[in-house]
Amino acid sequence: MAKKHYWSGQYYENVIGCRISELILSSKFNKFSNKGLIYRIAGGLMKVLVTGGLGFIGSHIVDGLIGEGYDVAVVDNMVSGMRKNLHSQATFYQMDIRDQEIETVFRTEKPDCVIHQAAQVSVQHSMENPLYDCSQNIIATINLLNACKKFGVKKFIFASTAAIYGVPEDFPIKEDHKLRPLSFYGLSKATCEEYIRRYCKLYDINYTILRYANVYGPRQSKDGEAGVITIFINQLMNKNPINVYGDGKQTRDFIYVKDVARANILALTRAHNKTINISSNKETSLNHLIQELTVHFGGNKDIKINYLDKRPGDISRSCLSNVRAKTDLTWEPTPEWDLSGGIAETIKYFNLNN
Ligand SMILES: NC(=O)c1ccc[n+]([C@@H]2O[C@H](COP(=O)([O-])OP(=O)(O)OC[C@H]3O[C@@H](n4cnc5c(N)ncnc54)[C@H](O)[C@@H]3O)[C@@H](O)[C@H]2O)c1
Repeated sequence: MAKKHYWSGQYYENVIGCRISELILSSKFNKFSNKGLIYRIAGGLMKVLVTGGLGFIGSHIVDGLIGEGYDVAVVDNMVSGMRKNLHSQATFYQMDIRDQEIETVFRTEKPDCVIHQAAQVSVQHSMENPLYDCSQNIIATINLLNACKKFGVKKFIFASTAAIYGVPEDFPIKEDHKLRPLSFYGLSKATCEEYIRRYCKLYDINYTILRYANVYGPRQSKDGEAGVITIFINQLMNKNPINVYGDGKQTRDFIYVKDVARANILALTRAHNKTINISSNKETSLNHLIQELTVHFGGNKDIKINYLDKRPGDISRSCLSNVRAKTDLTWEPTPEWDLSGGIAETIKYFNLNN
């Protein structure tokens, strides 16, 4: 099981360049400011609070953290998250992160770090109800930052999005590309980013902002604005035609959810005060994606594709550079979870869970 390697202590040993047991005894211990490891070496646990930990991405982060030996608390109001996604070893608070009561969670749990995933995630919904999007994304994030300041949180990790770039001018899109979000969702995420940068500088909290490309994998919702891979897989499993908006030549950058979870875990201890794309750095057209899916569904030539009108606001190309993620976060996509491997894992999940 090569993938397990990434959740194991061996991975940290590779990164640090010595065995964890050597760390305790050697002078490297003093130089290495990895609080998580120090706590764990000392026999205690680093406490991480994950917002949205019952959701698609958040639940994989929680699984990864617990697999790594972190102590994890989850806050989720279950607006879309599901109880069945909750790891049995995580402490769960059913609460809205906009609620002032969030302070009770911080007071009780005393988290060292916060990984903030909870959000209003629908572009369409943000256009219909910008006020709700603003409250769910911007106000909620400020409420969390206030609690982080009050209760001495050391690190804040934020889930941002490729949607903040709008229509890109250069490919692959680098982090310093102009931000021209098309949707209120993109705008609210870009605004959160700015709040986090200023707030954290002012109150001496480390942050990492991770801008995800198109995330897919097990536990993604099939409803609403689910990722296109999950939608297509479920259309194929139900023997329905695949609906493509536009000519299918539009490209997206697909990244497997467990790789996104791993990026968050790495960010606990590195890439302080950096903004980093989390992506495959590959452009995949929807037509190519359908070919790939067809292979996984036995090369079925009878698959029907409906090409429908392009949707307003859909961008024609997307591809995020992941060079900074490689250098600053020591992260790169896992080869086994390339598009084909990730699709296989996702189909396996929906076969068991439909
Ligand atoms: N899925 C993607 O492709 C993608 C791409 C870019 C960025 N992101 C970002 O990643 C994060 C996670 O997205 P996801 O796809 O896992 O979405 P999701 O809807 O599966 O997860 C969001 C979770 O947050 C919870 N939540 C929402 N509002 C809350 C509130 N006010 N208080 C407490 N809990 C609340 C929901 O119940 C849910 O469990 C989001 O911030 C999203 O904007 C996702």
